[in-house]
Amino acid sequence: MDREPGLSVRLKLTLSYAGFLLVAGVLLIAVVWVFLLRYVPDQAVTVSGDDAPGGPGLFIPGRRDLWRAFAPKAALMLAFLAVFGLVGGWLLASRMLAPLQRITEVTRTAGSGSLSHRIRLPGRRDELRELADTVDAMLDRLEAHVAEQRRFAANASHELRTPLATTQALLDVARQDPPHDPGELVERLHAVNARAIDLTEALLLLSRADQRSFLRERVDLSLLAEEAAETLLPFAEGRGVSIETSGDVTPAVGSRALLLQMVTNLVHNAIVHNLPAGGTVQVRTGVLKGSVVVTVENTGETLDPARVATLVEPFQRGTARVHGDQAGVGLGLAIVDSIVRAHDGHLVLTPLATGGLRVVVRLPAAPPRTDH
Ligand SMILES: Nc1ncnc2c1ncn2[C@@H]1O[C@H](COP(=O)(O)OP(=O)(O)OP(=O)(O)O)[C@@H](O)[C@H]1O
Ligand SMILES: [Mg+2]
Repeated sequence: MDREPGLSVRLKLTLSYAGFLLVAGVLLIAVVWVFLLRYVPDQAVTVSGDDAPGGPGLFIPGRRDLWRAFAPKAALMLAFLAVFGLVGGWLLASRMLAPLQRITEVTRTAGSGSLSHRIRLPGRRDELRELADTVDAMLDRLEAHVAEQRRFAANASHELRTPLATTQALLDVARQDPPHDPGELVERLHAVNARAIDLTEALLLLSRADQRSFLRERVDLSLLAEEAAETLLPFAEGRGVSIETSGDVTPAVGSRALLLQMVTNLVHNAIVHNLPAGGTVQVRTGVLKGSVVVTVENTGETLDPARVATLVEPFQRGTARVHGDQAGVGLGLAIVDSIVRAHDGHLVLTPLATGGLRVVVRLPAAPPRTDH
């Protein structure tokens, strides 16, 4: 923003400091003067003879004489106060404002794109140090966010390139050595293309949830959980996994499509990352202290808690895949996380001691219906 140049804060502080000092000086002199007037006669008096307290022939000055003697001294005093106020104010203001200069410097550098500098003001806490610490914390978050975005863009491009490169390789081979049965090539190309479409759709979904641009309506999560479990039942049976759903009515407010996607991703994960055979998945819904809670729990191999903490990051996949044929992209939990955040909720992943994972999603409960 372009602004008209104005007085610097340092100058303003100096002038106010000197101004206050002058006003205080004038007030003090006025009080002294009023006090003195009570004891001084209007006109000068000469007391003669033995009546005089200090001996014969005493001269007592009148108000005018006193003023003549007092005024130049008072003016001198005020001039001294003005100079003292200006110099002292200038030095004090520069001391007080020094941290601001450092804060401005660092925010200006950050504004020009370099987010690695910090203010790190030394000393005890006061208003300016609090401001500096807040700016530092903001820069920390901003830097982490930018790094995350860069990582995301790099991963997304890498993942998107993989199916394209596979397609290219398949086509190159087919051109050099035309296949006897083009049907097989078409099938493979179809599978690779389907994967690219899935990935692009997952990315679109992620950005839609992040932008929070969706219609909010009243949704019962227990119905969504049942719908997701029902849709995925044949898939689970194919893998020898059984699904069990239970729970009460759990009214939340949000996008029906996104919340269904969230539950579907969780149940899909619970099926895919389960035991090779005889695994179970439990989906429970409930209301707890003004929140609605969805819990998806599955059997599976034992997971390292440190690793589990990173699983919601985009493109993070578990190392040991139980079923290699269903190689995921690693966006399922990232999508769940942004949908949960877009609905002002919390997502907690807990590895189970017996193996497998418990995922708990907690969302604000919908307010009770007011219509009759
Ligand atoms: N219910 C679960 N039980 C055990 N491990 C899980 C579970 N859910 C997720 N994981 C681990 O977290 C990783 C990330 O999950 P995420 O859903 O983000 O990606 P993905 O399932 O690999 O791929 P996709 O993008 O197709 O979902 C998985 O690769 C898996 O190792
Ligand atoms: Mg997944």
